[in-house]
Amino acid sequence: MAKIIDGKAIALDIRNEIAKEVQTLSQTYNKVPGLAVVIVGTRKDSQSYVGMKRKACAQVGIRSFDIDLPEDISEAVVIAKVHELNADPDVHGILVQLPLPKHINEEKVLSEISIEKDVDGFHPLNIGKLAMKGREPLFLPCTPKGCLELLSRSGISVKGKRAVVVGRSNIVGLPVSLLLLKADATVTIVHSHTPDSEKIIREADIIIAAAGQANMIKGEWIKPGAAVIDVGTNAVDDPSRKSGYRLVEVAGWLTPVPGGVGPMTVAMLLKNTLDGAKRKIVQ
Ligand code: GUN
Repeated sequence: MAKIIDGKAIALDIRNEIAKEVQTLSQTYNKVPGLAVVIVGTRKDSQSYVGMKRKACAQVGIRSFDIDLPEDISEAVVIAKVHELNADPDVHGILVQLPLPKHINEEKVLSEISIEKDVDGFHPLNIGKLAMKGREPLFLPCTPKGCLELLSRSGISVKGKRAVVVGRSNIVGLPVSLLLLKADATVTIVHSHTPDSEKIIREADIIIAAAGQANMIKGEWIKPGAAVIDVGTNAVDDPSRKSGYRLVEVAGWLTPVPGGVGPMTVAMLLKNTLDGAKRKIVQ
């Protein structure tokens, strides 16, 4: 049977490590890390994610700045808010929850975030550095960083492995592929236009399922012993259903949903905020 990678427990360990460091910063420099979480509109899923992020800040002693903007706000006002946060010395990280309403250009807004406060790692300069050999981005995107952290804390080495990423989104698929490549894996990205993705997935030692769509991967495609990191809510067969048994039996390691990657995304956001604050506060 596959070993279940307990993302919730690993994330809790990381949050405890962060809380200790925040306390040390506060005692030594009388300053705490600050994270601005900006949400535009009332999408239920976004509100729930933002709520989790703000609560997690409070639990580790990070000060959260809550910016809630109405759905019909103009792009110019959102950008002006970002500029204000860029200039605020108590704010070490800025997160703009995605997706933004259709009338606001996401790329334009993300490009305005100071790269020194880009805790989501979505600024084109940070992504660009992630894509280049020998360049180090200031921040890594949280979900991809969480996937790699789950592998390393579970003792799964990446170097020289065949990794297959299912999906190519800006938030997960693309950056996780770049991270795996930086970690010396041989990386293939499969997506909705890939012919015979089954053949490619069957060869994978590590599978990152980030298609945002159900049933892209079948249990019987998993190579025995492979590590399966499920980023979506249903991209891999549900192991509790009959069709998913094969996946649990064959995979070497498997992340559950919920309780796998999700808690790690939040933990990595806290870690990025702490790291950003340390760069500013620690002399
Ligand atoms: N929407 C879905 N995932 C994310 C994320 O990691 N960061 C932001 N800002 N928005 C998201």
